[in-house]
Amino acid sequence: MSTSSRPRMARYAWGVLVVTVLAIAAGYGWVAWSKGGPGDGLYSRLWQPDKVFGYWHPVRFYGYEGPMSGRFEGPQCVECHSALTPGVVADWRASRHATPKDGKTVYCDSCHGNDHAKLRMPDKTVCGGCHATQHAQFQDERRFGFPSHALATERAVDAPHFVDKPKAEVTACLQCHSVASKCDSCHTRHLFSAAEARRPEACITCHSGPPHPDDETFFASAHGKRYLAEGDKWDWSKPLAKGNYKAPTCAYCHMSGGKHQVADKTIWKFGLQEVNPLTSGNQVRRTQWVAMCSDCHDAEWSRQQLAGLDAERKRAWPLLYAAERELKGLRSDGLLHPTADERPPYPLDKPGALFARERIGYFEGQSSAFYNVSPIERDYFEMWYFDNLGAYKGAAHGAPDAVARGHEKMNTALENIKQKAQTLRQQDKPPAAAPWWAEGEYTGHNKEHN
Ligand code: HEC
Ligand code: HEC
Ligand code: HEC
Ligand code: HEC
Ligand code: HEC
Ligand code: HEC
Ligand code: HEC
Ligand code: HEC
Repeated sequence: MSTSSRPRMARYAWGVLVVTVLAIAAGYGWVAWSKGGPGDGLYSRLWQPDKVFGYWHPVRFYGYEGPMSGRFEGPQCVECHSALTPGVVADWRASRHATPKDGKTVYCDSCHGNDHAKLRMPDKTVCGGCHATQHAQFQDERRFGFPSHALATERAVDAPHFVDKPKAEVTACLQCHSVASKCDSCHTRHLFSAAEARRPEACITCHSGPPHPDDETFFASAHGKRYLAEGDKWDWSKPLAKGNYKAPTCAYCHMSGGKHQVADKTIWKFGLQEVNPLTSGNQVRRTQWVAMCSDCHDAEWSRQQLAGLDAERKRAWPLLYAAERELKGLRSDGLLHPTADERPPYPLDKPGALFARERIGYFEGQSSAFYNVSPIERDYFEMWYFDNLGAYKGAAHGAPDAVARGHEKMNTALENIKQKAQTLRQQDKPPAAAPWWAEGEYTGHNKEHN
């Protein structure tokens, strides 16, 4: 190294620092700008909210647009609405809000406001005004990252496929993911009953379907069987605590002690990505699980049941990685047809439009790029998202058949993928991309219609 290069390098180091600082500032600026549109989240400039979104994400989108105006006191709301919306009023009358043990009656106006022309749809902060403990526990989930109820709305609107696909197809995302915005997901309005929320039915409107078959796996478990056989005789007014229930429900396990926090114990999370189950953080979570199971079972017995889940996961990842390797091999040999540049580009994927590349696996973001793909890529997506996640939930919830079926399906899918790959390799020339690939259903749709 020459003597003069040292000060010159120091100057470059400054340059790098300045560029980094500017890049970070520009990044923040870009994110703030992106969030400034009519929609919500990172892509808010690319979509318009439908009116119904006002009820799913009230703080962002609700504004009263009806013909009623005037200021009313609580009893007046009840009176007029008993004729107008009798179901709402009957539920409210049956709720603790109408007859609290202590404190004043919580009339309609406590949540919706007095001024009919400026009604509000109460989000979680309104409930939090009187139920600070539950609200704070709920918000605390944000510390644990995804997945969690508190972050669910952001998660949905920031998922590229939420904006890439026609909104009419994906509107329901927000109906489930609205769990982040308001408190009427598990205790439905206007009963707002703790007893209702303790039952498994409170969760399964959202926790069902192939990527998250929590309903199926729970009802197939020994716990679910007990619930189905005798649950209608249990006293649901009791809190979720040791000795109060013979078998656990979703909330008993995931919100033990009535804590409004579902994200603090999870080790494998959604099952999308391999984790190390033995980190010190995960050992703490395991201890919490075991403590909860020990309300009814022996601690060592419970630890062994949870070890069964780890073993199931350990068996699943190599199958998924083997399929991923097949796909990546085909990609490097240019054999995935239609190739990424023959497909309609995702509207949001600017780099992808310039440097088209098939996305494979978790880290390349395949979970948002699963339509407009070649058949073998879709096979892998289904293996990963449906068969794998089904097996995980089976093992987590004690449904042996779901584990067996999930692994059988994963094995079959892997065989099929290998066979299809072999066929693709043996063809002299790759099949031409069909015309529908060049101009697809989703091409440019977003910009014009979302
Ligand atoms: C004199 C009758 C009357 C009184 C009093 C009254 N409302 Fe209404 N309210 C209506 C009518 C009519 C509608 C339906 C028309 C509409 O959709 O705006 C309505 C609609 C609503 C809605 C649904 C709004 C939406 O966008 O879906 C809410 C919430 C509501 N009222 C709450 C209240 C509250 C809270 C009070 C008391 C502060 C109250 N109402 C008092 C007649 C009344
Ligand atoms: C404890 C809070 C609370 C009280 C008290 C309350 N509401 Fe509501 N109400 C809600 C919530 C939460 C929603 C759903 C908000 C959303 O969809 O974003 C709602 C929605 C509504 C809607 C629109 C949804 C529908 O199903 O039509 C009407 C109408 C309504 N309330 C009327 C009333 C009336 C009338 C009363 C009094 C008898 C009342 N509310 C009392 C919390 C409350
Ligand atoms: C103005 C204060 C206030 C607001 C706002 C409020 N609550 Fe309540 N809530 C109460 C009171 C008071 C009770 C009854 C406590 C008692 O009986 O001692 C109660 C009870 C409850 C219960 C227990 C019911 C049971 O079965 O034991 C639930 C659940 C609940 N509220 C949910 C909500 C939700 C969800 C919201 C927002 C949509 C909300 N509350 C808004 C004051 C409020
Ligand atoms: C209105 C829909 C809805 C209801 C009702 C609902 N959830 Fe969820 N839940 C979600 C969504 C959406 C996510 C995923 C959020 C995300 O993308 O990060 C989720 C995530 C979860 C997670 C994953 C947390 C983690 O860290 O892995 C658990 C556990 C959970 N919910 C338990 C429950 C239980 C128990 C109930 C019933 C007492 C319930 N949920 C009711 C929508 C709901
Ligand atoms: C039936 C209710 C439901 C619908 C509809 C739904 N989701 Fe979810 N979603 C969930 C649940 C429940 C989970 C959590 C799964 C778990 O932890 O087992 C989840 C998980 C997710 C996750 C991954 C969790 C994370 O945070 O890492 C993303 C991303 C997501 N959903 C986005 C969407 C998008 C985008 C749509 C619409 C195309 C959508 N969801 C439609 C219920 C739903
Ligand atoms: C994922 C489902 C779920 C969501 C979302 C949810 N709750 Fe609950 N809530 C429950 C369950 C389950 C219980 C019963 C807990 C128990 O047995 O100790 C409960 C009980 C309550 C109680 C009664 C507590 C007591 O000790 O009597 C209040 C108040 C309450 N919830 C308020 C809220 C508020 C405020 C929100 C929004 C921040 C909310 N809940 C969102 C499931 C939920
Ligand atoms: C006996 C206790 C128990 C019951 C009952 C139960 N779960 Fe689970 N659940 C678990 C365990 C243990 C896991 C695996 C956690 C992990 O990966 O660390 C899990 C995983 C999950 C996950 C994935 C993310 C997470 O937070 O761990 C969701 C979502 C979920 N369960 C929802 C539900 C729903 C909805 C029901 C009711 C239909 C239910 N569970 C019933 C114990 C239970
Ligand atoms: C509220 C009580 C309760 C809690 C909490 C509970 N269980 Fe159970 N569990 C039962 C009952 C009751 C049965 C059915 C009787 C039996 O087989 O022991 C059962 C059965 C089982 C079975 C099937 C038994 C077998 O031999 O095939 C498994 C597995 C299981 N539980 C695992 C767990 C795990 C893991 C946890 C914690 C994540 C847990 N349980 C939490 C009450 C509970």
